[in-house]
Amino acid sequence: MDKRVWQWKRSVGSQEFLISTAKELLPHSFVQEAFADNAMFWAKPMSAENLKTMLDNSCTLGLYRVKSDGSQTPVGMARMVTDFATLAYLTDVYLKDDTRGLGLGKWVIHCCREIALDVPDLRFMLLLTGSEQAQQWYRRECGMERFGDEHALAAMGARRPALETSTRRTKLAEAIAASKHQSTDAAA
Ligand SMILES: CC(C)(COP(=O)(O)OP(=O)(O)OC[C@H]1O[C@@H](n2cnc3c(N)ncnc32)[C@H](O)[C@@H]1OP(=O)(O)O)[C@@H](O)C(=O)NCCC(=O)NCCS
Repeated sequence: MDKRVWQWKRSVGSQEFLISTAKELLPHSFVQEAFADNAMFWAKPMSAENLKTMLDNSCTLGLYRVKSDGSQTPVGMARMVTDFATLAYLTDVYLKDDTRGLGLGKWVIHCCREIALDVPDLRFMLLLTGSEQAQQWYRRECGMERFGDEHALAAMGARRPALETSTRRTKLAEAIAASKHQSTDAAA
């Protein structure tokens, strides 16, 4: 995992905000609450262990309101799933209700874009959305396009149930399942 930390500061009116990818700043409880918010309809809270795994393996931008005493309260997030070499998948863009409409969402997206531009052999910055408004937003802010005719590319995906039922019961599939090994000891 890339150990770099990205950070930006900005004032909006009299309020100070910070965006940081420092893992230790982002309370896991904030992410769980965000995932439980109906506004984030695609996500749901998960076990503490899975959440830690997710955050350990992502570059997550926390958006914080900074008080005059220097204390930071999380008010938003965005998550980049990236290998830091070729791909950056953007997901879980979220601001708490009372911080929307101030231009902070746009700021978060632009910071994600900067992180993607730091990926040296970037092939794509990707995201999935069903919202027409979001498509216009990402087109305007990040130059993203729907994959289609102009790229001669199709975006493909499968949710878990489709993956589970997709393998035909062939001898090859059974042999692969039977020969699966997993190791958790990297030094072994
Ligand atoms: C989407 C979201 C992050 C925008 O944050 P924000 O701080 O209100 O956004 P900004 O003030 O920076 O920018 C507002 C722009 O975002 C657009 N916008 C607002 N809500 C949006 C949404 N749900 N999807 C896409 N764009 C949205 C507005 O049209 C506005 O466009 P404008 O610049 O032409 O006026 C915020 O509304 C949010 O957290 N929504 C719930 C979670 C969500 O839907 N996330 C997915 C986003 S793709």
